[in-house]
Amino acid sequence: MTTIHDVAAHAQVSTSTVSHVLNNTRFVDPQKKARVLLAVETLGYRPNSLARSLRSRGTGTIGLLVPDNSNPFFADLARAIEDVSFAQGYSLMLCNSDGDDRKEASYINVLLSKQVDGLILIATSNHSDHLSAIHKAGVPVVVVDRELDDPAVDQVLVDNEHGGYLAGQYLVGLGHRQIACITGLRDLTPSAKRLVGFRRALAESGLVLPPANIVSGDFRYSGGEAAMQTLLERSRDWTAVFAINDLMAIGALNTLQRSAIAVPRDVSLIGFDNILQSAMMLPAITTIGQPIADIGRSSATLLIERITGQVREIARVLLTPTLIERETCRSLA
Ligand code: RIB
Repeated sequence: MTTIHDVAAHAQVSTSTVSHVLNNTRFVDPQKKARVLLAVETLGYRPNSLARSLRSRGTGTIGLLVPDNSNPFFADLARAIEDVSFAQGYSLMLCNSDGDDRKEASYINVLLSKQVDGLILIATSNHSDHLSAIHKAGVPVVVVDRELDDPAVDQVLVDNEHGGYLAGQYLVGLGHRQIACITGLRDLTPSAKRLVGFRRALAESGLVLPPANIVSGDFRYSGGEAAMQTLLERSRDWTAVFAINDLMAIGALNTLQRSAIAVPRDVSLIGFDNILQSAMMLPAITTIGQPIADIGRSSATLLIERITGQVREIARVLLTPTLIERETCRSLA
């Protein structure tokens, strides 16, 4: 069985350097660190997790709780978090709450009972009472994407209000005046704040979103399909639609195409997230891109700093979304 001594010899470093790299217990020269990680992969070294937990008083695991792991946004986010975690010597335990409060509470208990060294939480709702169990257990936690009203917790967020504003500003700039919106789960901050920013952009041009032009979705493909069907049944006086995430934009696109409505000739459509599938559609969907990999890297790095005792002020990281123009919006000029 490969030992830490074999890894050290292969990487031409000391065994303590190997240990520091795998447990992130101190800075290691990047070239040495790369040699150690390559040796670990080449030799197929798997640290004895029990021995490590005795040494570093940790289990070397991080818990990640997402609301829908089938959504490519969360899949890509989990991938970025796992990349950083593994490179720092941590295994990732991924749990799916299905957007259900009780399931979220149950998984938090499971992760705490498994003695995870830290936890990254994308919450199923805006209330922060699930954090109390984590705080009580004294386990470091980073809240991501869905903002929670807990000032004592690190958060990694995207400026959703600005993202919604970009979408509105873009459509108005193309000459659209009659506009509709398919929201996500309205009580969640990402959806609520995108709608606020979207309305602000329209208001700057004296435009309002008529209530009949707003339909609630659920961040899922089927929700986008159904919401677009509802919009079509209500009226056809709009020329552009903002879907508050890409999965719903894809669902909406398919409903329009099945209704023989051409995009963007008859209706312009813009989404939010920039998942790979938005670029794969025909036409490719114009969207507001979230820096998904940066969100993942920032949250994993923040959490590991907490785990390893690099104490600092509570962090509230706010990343910036960007407009990604593709093929589903046209100018009315
Ligand atoms: O697509 C899933 C949505 O839920 C994303 O917009 C993300 O921000 C999350 O809130």
